Amino acid sequence: MQTSPEAALHARYGAEQAPTAVWNDVIATLLAHRSVRAFTDAPLPAGTLEILVAAAQSAATSSNMQTWSVVAVEDAGRKALLAEWSGRQAHVAHAPLVLVWLADLSRAARIGAARGHDMVALPYTETAMVAMIDAALAAQNATVAAESLGLGTVYLGALRNRPEDVAAELYLPAQCFPVFGLCVGWPDPSHPSPLRPRLPQSVVLHRERYDTTHEADGIAVYDERFTAHQQAEGIRPVGWSSRVLDRLGAVRGLNGRERMRTVLAALGFPLD
Ligand SMILES: Cc1cc2nc3c(=O)[nH]c(=O)nc-3n(C[C@H](O)[C@H](O)[C@H](O)COP(=O)(O)O)c2cc1C
Repeated sequence: MQTSPEAALHARYGAEQAPTAVWNDVIATLLAHRSVRAFTDAPLPAGTLEILVAAAQSAATSSNMQTWSVVAVEDAGRKALLAEWSGRQAHVAHAPLVLVWLADLSRAARIGAARGHDMVALPYTETAMVAMIDAALAAQNATVAAESLGLGTVYLGALRNRPEDVAAELYLPAQCFPVFGLCVGWPDPSHPSPLRPRLPQSVVLHRERYDTTHEADGIAVYDERFTAHQQAEGIRPVGWSSRVLDRLGAVRGLNGRERMRTVLAALGFPLD
């Protein structure tokens, strides 16, 4: 189905947008993104996993160090465990494929060990950030590739509720951290996924210098639009900023992830 740029932008922002001549199929795919949490039983075509990983490996990677890896989980029992550990998110068990994206410094550590080289920069926070950024960029490339094929995806940050269990289940070596999962499958047409409007650009786009002049107005407008979106989706119409307050106004919203520094240290990321 072809959507005009104006219609796609309207859907993304929940408001009229100026027409644009800057457009192509890649941008159309990006603007059509929505998280999918209901999948059919249909399997993925042969070769899908490998092409998603090729797309992921085509992402930029800091200094070409490629400090990420991915574990593809298709086993029903293992997916059920990941679903359970992610706050019982049923779609994790139903997705034909769950990709677990790893910040992986263990490969560099093995290269250092094999050559008798002391890898003194590995324990630093900066190096951990490099690996996590690499993993995220790779995963997003796979996501865009999947969506371009008509597949649906949803990220699974809740894997970090129990990272040690995930690490043990997937036999992760030290210095290998599960950053998030990504469920991949065919979207169930009987449960269509809504496209969530985003903040107006006046809130997120700063020109030349950071400027919050239009922030409060922009957020007020967005709260109204998001409330209407929630109403249309049958979700409690509380707006957007109150969700931010809920999520970040109480430690409970971290679902156990408030221990992250300790967990990272235990998994080989001391964050020096
Ligand atoms: C790093 C990351 C972790 C996420 N974790 C979860 C998750 O555990 N469960 C879930 O249902 N959605 C998860 N999401 C999806 C977000 O809730 C979703 O992207 C956001 O609400 C915007 O909706 P949209 O993707 O449909 O536009 C995650 C997204 C990101 C980027």
